[in-house]
Amino acid sequence: MKILCVIGARPNYMKMAPIIDQMDKYISGGLSKIDLDYLLVHTGQHYDKNMSDSFFEDLQIPSPDIYLGVGSGSHAEQTAKIMTGFEKVCLQEHPDLVFVVGDVNSTLACSLVAAKLLIPVAHVEAGLRSFDRTMPEEINRIVADSLSDYLFTTCRDADENLKKEGITGSKIFFVGNVMIDSLLKYKEFAKTKIKKFDSLKTIDYALLTLHRPSNVDQKKTFQNIFEALITISKKTPIIFPAHPRTRKMISEFGLNDLFQKNLFSIPSQKKGIYLIPPMSYLEFLSLMSNAQFVLTDSGGIQEETTVLGIPCLTLRENTERPITLKEGTNTLVGTDKNKIKQEAFDIIEGKKKHGNIPELWDGKASQRILTIILNKFSEKKS
Ligand code: UD1
Repeated sequence: MKILCVIGARPNYMKMAPIIDQMDKYISGGLSKIDLDYLLVHTGQHYDKNMSDSFFEDLQIPSPDIYLGVGSGSHAEQTAKIMTGFEKVCLQEHPDLVFVVGDVNSTLACSLVAAKLLIPVAHVEAGLRSFDRTMPEEINRIVADSLSDYLFTTCRDADENLKKEGITGSKIFFVGNVMIDSLLKYKEFAKTKIKKFDSLKTIDYALLTLHRPSNVDQKKTFQNIFEALITISKKTPIIFPAHPRTRKMISEFGLNDLFQKNLFSIPSQKKGIYLIPPMSYLEFLSLMSNAQFVLTDSGGIQEETTVLGIPCLTLRENTERPITLKEGTNTLVGTDKNKIKQEAFDIIEGKKKHGNIPELWDGKASQRILTIILNKFSEKKS
């Protein structure tokens, strides 16, 4: 059985890493019923060292077998380039299955190519819906799910979303959360072995990520969010590893002066928003584990903070991960200045949201996925 595993952008790596790990264990176990082989295909949607290579090192992912090098572009350009490159790979390799994860443009492009070539597609993290089609990721999720043969979900409400869209129950498998497999594997290591931020361990700080086009591409929205953040940062310093897109907009809007630059001056200076480059996986995990709270517009961070028990304020009007609101530590604050400030002040004053770890977010999702895939494949063969 030959599998192509597709990755392309930063949030894909921590989802694919545990699946690769399971396949490596199966292959090296020697007792395999099925002759399994896989190739790792990196589309190159993200290409900067700190958006890609550093994650391979931290998550011990082998170097990609195939690199498409598509780079940035408009949605149509980027998707088309990935499709053209990936079609050639499929025609050459004749895989039995394509694994895609998450909701980035690479997920959409590669599932579309595989489906048209009648190659079965497995979508990991299927069924999440924000019901907001202004988000490119929502379109990517809907298309990838409708074309997939195996839909692996992280929560039961995702199963319901898929069924409502007419996807048959026999294709849907509730297996848990592969991103949490990675989190649980590396959590202790990041806390104890990453020494870079030791000087920050004794102080309270908030950690911020912000990169959604809807938040960073318009000066008015951006400034509005930052007015709230500046007020919050007078009470607790905010550490802000900025995505390249956000960094570019900060320069374009002429807002560089809003930020402090020297992260390690926090213990003496305390106040302010500290702008730093994007972190590697382990560095970010170390900063996040130690944060008083997190402010974000990311999808995955809403889930990671829930498992870490750290309060998360999500700077969006909706979320495709409602389980983190219902069961976890997440609160939606949108982009309303007063709401952001109020919720942050509540946390600073000790009113912290407590949550539970959702069902099957236990570090074994990737194991379940591989078992299902191998069983299905051997059923087909016999
Ligand atoms: C993509 C995903 C988003 C995910 C995010 C995580 C889509 C539609 N969006 O958004 O779901 O949350 O990744 O980071 O797939 N850039 C660089 N270096 C890089 C990559 C990007 O400088 O390595 C800059 C470029 O200016 C590029 C911009 O960032 O134009 C946006 O990159 P792109 O891959 O289009 O989308 P993201 O905003 O990263």
